[in-house]
Amino acid sequence: MEKLVIRGGVPLTGTIHVSGAKNAVLPIIASTLLVEDTCLLAGVPRLADVNTIVDLISYLGAETTWDRDTLTVTANTLCNREAPYECVSKMRASFLIMGPLLARFGQTRISLPGGCNIGTRPIDLHLKGFACLGAEITKESGYVDARVRGRLKGARIYLDFPSVGATENIMMAAALADGVTHIENAAEEPEIVDLANFLNGMGGKVSGAGTNLVAIEGVSSLKGAAHNIIPDRVEAGTYMVAAAITGGDIRIENVIAEHLKPVIAKIEEIGAKVQNGGDGIRVIGADKIQPTNIQTLPYPGFPTDMQAQLTSLLARAEGTSLIVETVFENRFMHTEELVRMGADISVNGRVAVVKGVPQLYGAKVKATDLRGGAALILAGLAARGETEISLIHHIDRGYESLEYKLCELGADIKRVKNA
Ligand code: UD1
Repeated sequence: MEKLVIRGGVPLTGTIHVSGAKNAVLPIIASTLLVEDTCLLAGVPRLADVNTIVDLISYLGAETTWDRDTLTVTANTLCNREAPYECVSKMRASFLIMGPLLARFGQTRISLPGGCNIGTRPIDLHLKGFACLGAEITKESGYVDARVRGRLKGARIYLDFPSVGATENIMMAAALADGVTHIENAAEEPEIVDLANFLNGMGGKVSGAGTNLVAIEGVSSLKGAAHNIIPDRVEAGTYMVAAAITGGDIRIENVIAEHLKPVIAKIEEIGAKVQNGGDGIRVIGADKIQPTNIQTLPYPGFPTDMQAQLTSLLARAEGTSLIVETVFENRFMHTEELVRMGADISVNGRVAVVKGVPQLYGAKVKATDLRGGAALILAGLAARGETEISLIHHIDRGYESLEYKLCELGADIKRVKNA
């Protein structure tokens, strides 16, 4: 077991490079299962979640090789069609292999994901989509079995909520279906657009990605493709907060500012300066942090994956902020840890009231989930004294070379082995 030890109080300065997007690369790796040919993915971040999905497709029989940040996948012969409990319980996104396997082989069996730290996270919308495409779905012994005779059939599918994972899973399944599929009330996240671009590079016919109506004209076969993964907007947003919370001055490279609009708006509202230029963003922290209110929403609203980091920032504001989490029902676990660092936060259901304090103090805290862990790092960077963060495997799921990148900006952060 490892932990991160941070001595806070240093304003971070310098330039940082953002890695490829975790949430884009996971469905794209899953979609390499749609073809026998080799696919080449560049800009792939080396993260625990990426290792989990690479292990899963290797278990199914795909061949994978790494050359620095380029991953090559060849899934020409697959010996397994099943994702076991060990994979899916480790990472829910393992469920994304269901669409590609069902479309290509007409059958797959995947463990039900079970509980999750940040909420119940059902998969009913994924399964509703597959059923609309003609699959027969049965659940038994903790597994979902999906099968179809012949090809899936294009259909009109309305999502009750614009689920990112369900939109992606259905897009991948529909890519090889017979006829046209329309996903209504689809998720509009940039990662959906990246997946659509990859599928189209493979010879797929996807249009409307990035809007709430995605159309997929099924084709009888797809071919291998090469693709560059888009930059990680959540990683970029986290470093923007690092500049703002430490009163630093950071240039963040390899970002698409358009993807960060709601985060930029909030960083400006708290008083920091944001300058856009080329493929970089510069954030200059202010002397005083102003309070603001946040409501998480599906894209293009404020991302739930940035809520925890903003909570740390607002914990230092001069006044009271309200944070409303509408996407997941249990995503405030980090607030109790922040309170241990001197923050004044009370939570009632989906609302957190954050009364800013002049100073946070180092303490022993634990990462409760990926973004909650990032929030504790940010608080630790701004706190007086030493912060020790345990359970950092959560953080390693989504941030590449985190402490190396922060050290380059002048942070005093070390990874140490627990005694
Ligand atoms: C993805 C992201 C995650 C992000 C989330 C919301 C990946 C790998 N993960 O997760 O980082 O926090 O989007 O932006 O891309 N829901 C249902 N039924 C379903 C599916 C979802 O009710 O079948 C609900 C969930 O419980 C949740 C909401 O929809 O309340 C959003 O979930 P969803 O958009 O599916 O998130 P993920 O794809 O799991």
